[in-house]
Amino acid sequence: MRDPNPQTIYLKDYTVPEYLIHSVALNFTLDDENTLVSSRLTLSRNPASQSHDTSLTLSGENLKLIRVNLDDGDLSKAQYLQTQDSLIIHDVPQQQRFVLTIDNTINPKANTALEGLYLSNGMLCTQCEAEGFRKITYFLDRPDVMTLFTTTLVGDKDRYPVLLSNGNKVAEGELPDNRHWVTWEDPFNKPCYLFALVAGQLECIADRFTTQSGRDIDLQIFVEKHDIDKCDHAMQSLKNAMSWDEQVYDREYDLDLYMIVAVGHFNMGAMENKGLNVFNTKFVLARPDTATDSDYEHIEGVIGHEYFHNWTGNRITCRDWFQLSLKEGFTVFRDQEFTGDRTSKAVKRIEDVNMLRTRQFAEDAGPLAHPIRPDAYIEINNFYTLTVYEKGAEVVRMIHTLLGAEGFRKGSDLYFERHDGQAVTCDDFVSAMEDANGVDLSQFRRWYSQAGTPVLSVRQHYDSSAQTLTLTIGQSCPPTPGQPVKEPLHIPVTVGLLNKDGSVAPCKLQGGDQVCDEVILQLTQSEQAFTFEGLNEQPIVSILRGFSAPVKLTIERSLDELAFLLSYDSDTFNRWEAGQQLAGQIITGLIADLQNGRDMAVNPIMINAFKQVLEQPWDDLSYFSLLLSLPSETYLAEQMQIVDVEAIHAAREFVTLTLAEQLQSQFQALYQGNHRDESGKFDAGAIGRRRIKNTCLSYLSKLENSHIHELSQQQFNTAKNMTDQMAALAVIVNNPHPAKQQCLDSFYHQWRDEALVIDKWFALQASGSMPDTFATVQALMRHPAFDLKNPNRVRSLIGAFSQSNPLHFHAADGQGYRFLADQIIALNTLNPQIASRMVGALTSWRRYDEGRQALMKAQLERIMTTEAISKDVYEVASKSLA
Ligand code: PHE
Ligand code: ZN
Repeated sequence: MRDPNPQTIYLKDYTVPEYLIHSVALNFTLDDENTLVSSRLTLSRNPASQSHDTSLTLSGENLKLIRVNLDDGDLSKAQYLQTQDSLIIHDVPQQQRFVLTIDNTINPKANTALEGLYLSNGMLCTQCEAEGFRKITYFLDRPDVMTLFTTTLVGDKDRYPVLLSNGNKVAEGELPDNRHWVTWEDPFNKPCYLFALVAGQLECIADRFTTQSGRDIDLQIFVEKHDIDKCDHAMQSLKNAMSWDEQVYDREYDLDLYMIVAVGHFNMGAMENKGLNVFNTKFVLARPDTATDSDYEHIEGVIGHEYFHNWTGNRITCRDWFQLSLKEGFTVFRDQEFTGDRTSKAVKRIEDVNMLRTRQFAEDAGPLAHPIRPDAYIEINNFYTLTVYEKGAEVVRMIHTLLGAEGFRKGSDLYFERHDGQAVTCDDFVSAMEDANGVDLSQFRRWYSQAGTPVLSVRQHYDSSAQTLTLTIGQSCPPTPGQPVKEPLHIPVTVGLLNKDGSVAPCKLQGGDQVCDEVILQLTQSEQAFTFEGLNEQPIVSILRGFSAPVKLTIERSLDELAFLLSYDSDTFNRWEAGQQLAGQIITGLIADLQNGRDMAVNPIMINAFKQVLEQPWDDLSYFSLLLSLPSETYLAEQMQIVDVEAIHAAREFVTLTLAEQLQSQFQALYQGNHRDESGKFDAGAIGRRRIKNTCLSYLSKLENSHIHELSQQQFNTAKNMTDQMAALAVIVNNPHPAKQQCLDSFYHQWRDEALVIDKWFALQASGSMPDTFATVQALMRHPAFDLKNPNRVRSLIGAFSQSNPLHFHAADGQGYRFLADQIIALNTLNPQIASRMVGALTSWRRYDEGRQALMKAQLERIMTTEAISKDVYEVASKSLA
């Protein structure tokens, strides 16, 4: 039975561990249903601890205890106490090291929560972050206890031919009864959340990387036999990441072997276990015919992310879980820069900002808002959030902006030198940045403790006689739960000025002596004025270039000014942003027309702006495609006081259709000009051509004529790569296409053996806009390929419907909400982490009209009454209602 009022953990209560674990020798006798774990711990009192308690408390959950032995003597039941989640040894030596040996058994097959040791498609694997190690054996399961691990795996040779763990393989041998064993030794101290083991029938591809200092590293990727032809891109990505980290951060890999294992059942994207990363198959497997261009990019990004953790996360780890952003924010920043360097910086930045503004801003404005370093939690798994990851990366990026690339590198060098082998805090990271550069970031530190998205309001005044322009920038931040009053933040605001002819106007700040193309204003007060001089005509201001801070910007802009910036801004981010603002203002106007019963008409400024973009030559076709993309329904919803899902959808569709009608010939020409078979080519050129072509197809599809139906069906039938096949199917599914069902069926039959492609098939239908979508979703829940125990499937169907289909999920009758609550209640016992993630779609209930508010709230309340509600679901649902 679950405590209905689970305990809250606070950052302010942190104390150092009472004991240290110097080394652990783990022995696993593997069995799908009854694995024996024997753990031999060498411990001692932590001299830094103030406590005088002579007992030792280890964490452990769902363990069947067999034996406890202290310094070679078995302990009697009177000498220890076993509770729901711990093992307390009443008296342990205080003056010298001691050895504790614990035997317990676990049942991997019954483990549907996918935390600890579990079974995925016949493969045994582990997931220990954040607190999964305690589901394997009793331990001091906290990241500031760092230990040397030796792991021996014993198992049947046919059932588990491959036996893997962290570090280097140091011994192996045969045993009677067709069994074998392998011993792995990890020479680096690590917290137990980085422990991993994998056992099963796996195939592997191998390669090699020579480091900058000339060491040869063996690289291996393990997958199920059937997937061995889909590993090459992941391997290439790994090598790219290894050399990028040498070039940009001077970081070299430290073990002789780097292994990646892909598993089909995984709660998250991937896990950076030392020397043995475990990945969701989604971020490893790719072949041109099974994976889209965006899958290829995400694979490289996630492979990079996990690799970069070796320094930012593993060599230097977190003192406690409140510091999660120390490793995640920095590592996301590193993977973003890596992907930007590998693909297109402009496109990568836009995509990251898009995600931040649609998803993280909503989190920051809702009942679960928390700082990037939270100060309280019930279940840490609920804090692997967009705030900790994406806003955390923005905070690191602002430090990079404030210090410049060189200063930032000095800071990271000092951080690595000072803290290698330690478990540290976000504060330690900022201190290293300060000390290496001789700067004061004390006000900047508020970004770590203050939640909510700041709002900047900008006023401009041009003085023609003084030839000056003054920007007055105000900052404020709305209250968030537990933080009614906000302090001003230290915010870098990058600004450039444009002359009326579109050329660059020089930036010279009053009092300064430098003339530059752009400046970084340092906003520290709640209102501050900045004056530029030497301007003989009023310039057009391009502000918050590159999205230099995670804030909302309000500035009075005419549609003409936005169209001008869309044509001339030299900052690729702001150029795109001007187009988004332009489209946003126009769609917002149309929404008001709809709500007031007026006829809709698209302002010709918008058509002309698009036409201009279409008529220019572009090198970066992916960027070109983004310029032609309208803000998403979710982003538009973010901008509204009360979200009107139907009006948003109708207005946006109307603009899309109008553009398609007015610019049909341009879209058609562009489609034809870029439609060629380049399947299997993953260079920026081919990716860009596919992207612009499919953007055009999507516009043209709105015309709904038989010629377009034929075009999309032909692309679907002849596509040799998944990008083109999927893009065609998307257009077919979201239109009254006569061959819709036939195409969906043939796609299913073509790909029924490729789980990741079938996930796409589910997700595409779940996020569809046609009127029968909800019925389709219900039918898909009963499809034989649907499986509530597989997180990728759950995300593809239930996740896509609730998070990527505002129109149908928010249907006014509440059937979408009821459906989601049903699934959450079913998932609560199977997989609390996934269940809790799914609650996310209901947390923003206050943003909707009264009718929907009541319906959403009723479902949250119903979820709260779930029998044996998990901590995970309890925390999100109760905080949503608070
Ligand atoms: N630490 C992983 C990452 O960001 C994410 C993760 C967290 C995976 C918890 C599994 C469990 O790379
Ligand atoms: Zn990470």
